[in-house]
Amino acid sequence: VFKDQGPAALQYSVTEGFGPLREWVAQRYRSRGAKATADDVVITAGSQQGIDLAAKILLEPGAVVVTENPSYLAALQAFQASEATIVPVESDDEGIRVDQLAQVLATQPVRMIYVVPTFSNPKGLTLSLTRRQALVALADAYRVPVLEDDPYGELRYSGEELPPIAALDRSGMVISLGTFSKTLAPGLRIGWMLAPKAFKQHVVVAKQSADLHSSSISQRAVIELFETFDYDAHVTRLRDAYRPRRDAMLEAIERYFPAGTRFTRPMGGLFVWVELPSGLGASALFEAAIAEKVAFVPGAPFYPRQPNPHTLRLNFSNRPVELIEEGIRRLGTATRQGSQGRSEIRSERAV
Ligand SMILES: Cc1ncc(COP(=O)(O)O)c(C=O)c1O
Repeated sequence: VFKDQGPAALQYSVTEGFGPLREWVAQRYRSRGAKATADDVVITAGSQQGIDLAAKILLEPGAVVVTENPSYLAALQAFQASEATIVPVESDDEGIRVDQLAQVLATQPVRMIYVVPTFSNPKGLTLSLTRRQALVALADAYRVPVLEDDPYGELRYSGEELPPIAALDRSGMVISLGTFSKTLAPGLRIGWMLAPKAFKQHVVVAKQSADLHSSSISQRAVIELFETFDYDAHVTRLRDAYRPRRDAMLEAIERYFPAGTRFTRPMGGLFVWVELPSGLGASALFEAAIAEKVAFVPGAPFYPRQPNPHTLRLNFSNRPVELIEEGIRRLGTATRQGSQGRSEIRSERAV
């Protein structure tokens, strides 16, 4: 980029983002069934900025935003910064419970529905096609925007590809976010938003006041990279590298965790969500696990309201199979320090 496009890469640029990159993103959505043009795309500083901008244009103090329960922590933080009221809706193996969502929509003035529909953070679950269709029908009926946050959709290890929610939208109610953070590098800080016309101009104004535009150098570097680097082949390599790690983690949990443990079986993404048998608190397990040199993320902060203290999020992408097996074995050993767990649960309830 410096060699051939130095002056342009170092100058201020348009808020919407670098044209060829916006076209690349639009093409990607088109290939997955969405009607998208470069005009509908805004390049953002990661998908996190997309969440923040959506919160800025749609929420205000007291406005109701629906999320899954549990949901992505930094999205909850963005909604809390807008002083919105977060209404959590349960999710099961097919993703967010659209029947419960329908009840909330019928009784409360919802401003936005936020979902991580594919290999969610933190549970690793995927919204089924039937529920995706039900969700867009509800959004249309109640005229409530859906914020689809999809950083993990490319990382599928098993099961059928599903269309993004944006591809099912016929009434311009779905804003869709994506990112290169999980496939190229999070440090690039390059993500995108596909926004229907009614929202896009507001997003551009909000982004202008946030940071004028995303890094020209990073945006151009990505497009330059794609001249010589097969992105799809790279994503396939990632899938092939992560699949055995997921399998190893699921097998090890089955082998080493105590009877009564429940856990998700993700078809992609990075996370497995574990619910320990009652009597075992994740915070106490964390202490014992750190002593065994194993780290995980306790589940409680992912709940907008009442946390489930028995939950934890595990990540399988970053370590080789042997270390995953060993880590889960040590975690299993740590769960047997049960009495510590019980006292921890009492103290969590007390606060
Ligand atoms: C669900 C979800 N949304 C957004 C993000 C933020 O990603 P980015 O690096 O694209 O801002 C993450 C990162 O972990 C995430 O899990």
